[in-house]
Amino acid sequence: MATIRDVAKRAGVAPITVSRVVNNSGYVSDKTRIRVEQAIEELGYIPNMLGPSLRFKQTNTLALILTDITNPFWTTVARGAEDAASESQYNLILCNTDESEEKQNQYTQMLLRRQTDGILLVPASSTPQAVELLQRQKVPTVILDRRVPGVEIDEVRSDSEVGGYLATRHLVEMEHRHVALLTGPENVSTAKDRADGFCRALNEFHLGCPPEFIQWGKFTQESGYEATKRLLQFDPRPTALVAGNNFIAIGAMTALNEAGYRVPEDMAIVAFDDLPVALTIEPFFTVVVQPAYEMGYQATQLLISRLAGEHEEGCTKIILSPELVIRRSTGA
Ligand code: RIB
Repeated sequence: MATIRDVAKRAGVAPITVSRVVNNSGYVSDKTRIRVEQAIEELGYIPNMLGPSLRFKQTNTLALILTDITNPFWTTVARGAEDAASESQYNLILCNTDESEEKQNQYTQMLLRRQTDGILLVPASSTPQAVELLQRQKVPTVILDRRVPGVEIDEVRSDSEVGGYLATRHLVEMEHRHVALLTGPENVSTAKDRADGFCRALNEFHLGCPPEFIQWGKFTQESGYEATKRLLQFDPRPTALVAGNNFIAIGAMTALNEAGYRVPEDMAIVAFDDLPVALTIEPFFTVVVQPAYEMGYQATQLLISRLAGEHEEGCTKIILSPELVIRRSTGA
């Protein structure tokens, strides 16, 4: 990891000049400032914003980096994380990345500068860069909800492959033979795992798994809306949909209503991630419920136990079980 002295040497200035540029304090000519900032960029120098006094002390602060703060699934995860953190006298910083790797990297750099004790990360994709940076900087990290293949790191998630299987098997048992999946991005493990479970169920009933019946997209209403409009053009069209999350299911409903299709009479729907009972007077969707609160709570407990040195070497993987709750959207 580059130090302030490495930057000073590279820029041809004294370390105090680098400190002035980083802290925006004291006089530095424009020409020198540009040289120092260029050296910081080239060396990937991350200044410690807390100064030597706190350099190696705990700040009793954890960070939860999640991907869509508007989704009740994530606010429930955050609730569990915050409860576990406050029970152990930790503060919790909440960061929202909108499923963007660029925003995720910006937050990771900011948290490294602030010497956060530990990070709970929901990876915006399955690529290992962000996780490897945190491991290089030796920041205790637990991955939530998703997997990052090829990286040995603590992980707490629910089994999306089983969730996709349960949702699809239920629809086939309801006599549907043309079932489609609307899921998230192919480089996000939960979207991929749900597709794997979807295919496993169809193959178990010897129905095959036509690629065009898997619509990759985003975990958003707009993505569910557009994918459903495409699927309604198919001949034969699907008579049942597995929606990769709650927002996709709502988007699908909008497209079906616009086209005059009734649910479940013309199209059955199973969603992932229940909407909070408090927000839905009479829950309608048959849904794969993930233990969101437990995911946040147990991931934070695991991180805190790591910080306390209570864990043996090697990483811990906690995989929670999803549950299928059957309601009116599948006509059961
Ligand atoms: O809402 C976002 C979805 O992606 C959730 O189902 C969660 O599992 C995440 O992976």
